[in-house]
Amino acid sequence: MNYVHLLDNYHVKNIIVTGGGGFIGSHTCLALLEKGYNLFVIDSFENSSLKSIDRLLEIYKSKKYNPKINLKLFRGSLCNKEFIKGVFETVKKEKKEIDGVIHFAGLKAVAESILKPLLYWRNNLIGTINLLDIMEEFNCYNLVFSSSATVYQSKNNFLLKESSELGPINPYGNTKYTIEVILKDLFKSSFTKWKFASLRYFNPIGAHESGLLGEDPKDIPNNIFPLIINTALGLQKELKIYGNDWPTPDGTPIRDYIHVMDLADSHIKVLEFLINSKSICIEFNVGTGVGTSVLDLLKTFERVNNIKLPYSFDKRRVGDASYVVADNSLFTSTMNIYPRRTIEDMCRDGWKWKRLNPHGY
Ligand SMILES: NC(=O)c1ccc[n+]([C@@H]2O[C@H](COP(=O)([O-])OP(=O)(O)OC[C@H]3O[C@@H](n4cnc5c(N)ncnc54)[C@H](O)[C@@H]3O)[C@@H](O)[C@H]2O)c1
Repeated sequence: MNYVHLLDNYHVKNIIVTGGGGFIGSHTCLALLEKGYNLFVIDSFENSSLKSIDRLLEIYKSKKYNPKINLKLFRGSLCNKEFIKGVFETVKKEKKEIDGVIHFAGLKAVAESILKPLLYWRNNLIGTINLLDIMEEFNCYNLVFSSSATVYQSKNNFLLKESSELGPINPYGNTKYTIEVILKDLFKSSFTKWKFASLRYFNPIGAHESGLLGEDPKDIPNNIFPLIINTALGLQKELKIYGNDWPTPDGTPIRDYIHVMDLADSHIKVLEFLINSKSICIEFNVGTGVGTSVLDLLKTFERVNNIKLPYSFDKRRVGDASYVVADNSLFTSTMNIYPRRTIEDMCRDGWKWKRLNPHGY
């Protein structure tokens, strides 16, 4: 066992993770640590809790074979360029090269972005531009970026391919789309330096199987899974389903849900892919390719958790779409990785997290 570790540590890679305290970031940090990466985590904790880091370390340490913690935390905002520079300098002082950056940090609440567009443009855009500037200054050119399925036009009724028509309809989606454009422009400026992968996530749900790590939204949730959870907790009388007259088999909207741990594993594959590839700028759909209706999700949640949830139908919401499902074939064939957790796993793990932590962290 020790021998295996010596070999692992010999090739240890140094990764900066922005937004590592958030929902997807914290699960990915855990997966990276377990694979032996050395992490430098940046987070302002404006939409997360410092406890997520304690929890992921607690899970990591509970595995007997993990000898030491390779995680350093830097609390601050990407909007502060000097702060980012300080992080890179710290790594350099340790005589380490940064092998890559996974960039989760950003604000993500669609409804809030409509009310406060400047907040979103400033935080998501300026933060990313600052990060790219400093990466260039330190000759660090590998970046995995958290994009979103919101970059697509929402009126399609077929599996979305990376080449499907783009057209975000809210400020949040606009910031993701614009960052993708910036990455493309930067790539074209040299064709030899940068390696970019924008991951267009579909609907990440679920939680780490331990129930210690999960989603802890600070705002009032707008997405179906946190709303199901809130109903199960009794925080709301019933679940409102927006529209039962959509052109789908049961009349409720269909989405592509992916387990957050499958998403975490996907990041490691993409990071390795970038590290080993030539200069590239590519977008990938990261979903399961399987559509699940709101009613299907609700019924599965009830079945696996043995709970009955009251629900009623309401009018459709403006901006919703009937069918948003990924064609994930580019991603699975390039990365040779397939999401392995089921909707049942997502419902079970997501509920376990919230049952054990009803008030979040
Ligand atoms: N969760 C989803 O459904 C979903 C879907 C598609 C894309 N995404 C994107 O994936 C990324 C991660 O999402 P998440 O669900 O983990 O969100 P999250 O809010 O839980 O995590 C984002 C983290 O970034 C931090 N952050 C925000 N602005 C920052 C800044 N300027 N400097 C430093 N830290 C900052 C927040 O404090 C938080 O910890 C986001 O960029 C989000 O837009 C999420």
